[in-house]
Amino acid sequence: MARILLGVSGGIAAYKALELVRLATGAGHAVRVVQTEASQRFVGAASFAGLTGAPVLTSEWERDPARGAYPDQAPPDHEPLSHLQLVANADAYVVAPASANTIARLAHGLADNLLTSAALAATCPVLVAPAMNNHMWEHAATQANVATLAARGVTLVPPTAGRLGSKGEWGMGRLAEPAVLLEAIEAALARDAALPTAGPWDGLRVLVTAGGTREPIDAVRFVGNRSSGRMGFALAHAAADRGADVIVVAANVGLPRDPRASYVDVETAAQLEAACQDAFPACDVLLMAAAVADFRPANPADDKLKKSGRAELVVTMEPTADVLTGLAQVRRPDQLLVGFAAETGSGAVAYGREKLARKGLDAIVVNDVAGEGIGFDTAENEVTIITRDGEHHVPRSSKSDVARAILSLVDRMRRATTAGA
Ligand code: CTP
Repeated sequence: MARILLGVSGGIAAYKALELVRLATGAGHAVRVVQTEASQRFVGAASFAGLTGAPVLTSEWERDPARGAYPDQAPPDHEPLSHLQLVANADAYVVAPASANTIARLAHGLADNLLTSAALAATCPVLVAPAMNNHMWEHAATQANVATLAARGVTLVPPTAGRLGSKGEWGMGRLAEPAVLLEAIEAALARDAALPTAGPWDGLRVLVTAGGTREPIDAVRFVGNRSSGRMGFALAHAAADRGADVIVVAANVGLPRDPRASYVDVETAAQLEAACQDAFPACDVLLMAAAVADFRPANPADDKLKKSGRAELVVTMEPTADVLTGLAQVRRPDQLLVGFAAETGSGAVAYGREKLARKGLDAIVVNDVAGEGIGFDTAENEVTIITRDGEHHVPRSSKSDVARAILSLVDRMRRATTAGA
């Protein structure tokens, strides 16, 4: 199942887009539709809204009641910009039918309506299915525009020859049949998913922190937490799969190690901070999965504390440094920082968003550790990845799958930054 954004531009073939939506939703995909104003002269928004079960937008100035969410998603608790959020959430963006005018706009990078603005912001696969009169299709301008789009990596679903929209006209320019369009979309999705890396991570330096810190009370006791290091190690493994140079700062992790990564073992928050400060300047991506103590015993005893003669033991705790915030303060603009937030309860996502801003991060991975079978010391996780302009829910799956989903998003963010630079 995928999330598909469908851009409908003006032309008689717009009626076939309804059938495409019916087929796509029937196949289990979640679909949102944006229309140009001209397309609404051919097919009304109510039909698309009815078939998708989601609002249809035409203008970037219009409020989206679903706030960029697809029918399978919960809307975020803020109002993102539609042209960014609809494509950020999409696995594929298909413009069908694409009129000669819309193709020209796309080829020239115009962003003068929601459909074209969203296309400029799309980092997912983009498909364009032209439909027009044969003379318009054969015109040198249209052919040049189509060639430009293809050269940029847009997948063209070519028109076919036959009876055209206007009475008595025959020739090349019919929109591909809806079933063919869906096949092309699914093929593009499969190609995208099969890419281990859309941009290979060869040479990319990734710093991962994993595990949980332990803060000594005395020579044998400590204050710790339940983090096993599984999520951090899964991230290190997935990053090595993509070809990255991986350094793992491991806080008390007893799991098997990936021979492709290098490891720095630490116990306490202060040691983790020192190790991160060493490695951070040379890294491109920081994945801060470790559960770092916020407080530590202020005066740990050098020897083992004796219980004899004590009615109680009072341990005074002092705050530790927030490692991630410290690193964010000295970051370079080309570095990408991902934090993790273990939260419990209903305000988890809102609190995560607040943490993203407070700590100066590019993304924060929020998981509700109160959920049964997910979170600490379990094989599975279910997370919401919050970025500055959106939210991506990763349903309950293995920590390896969650790690891959996190890296895909990091990859998209990196490509968006590089493209915008
Ligand atoms: N973190 C850190 N240094 C600390 C505490 C946390 O670098 N001393 C990092 C964690 O590795 C994680 C992120 O900050 O990536 C969020 O950690 P969390 O404990 O959820 O956040 P806190 O700032 O401690 O917020 P609170 O305890 O109030 O939820």
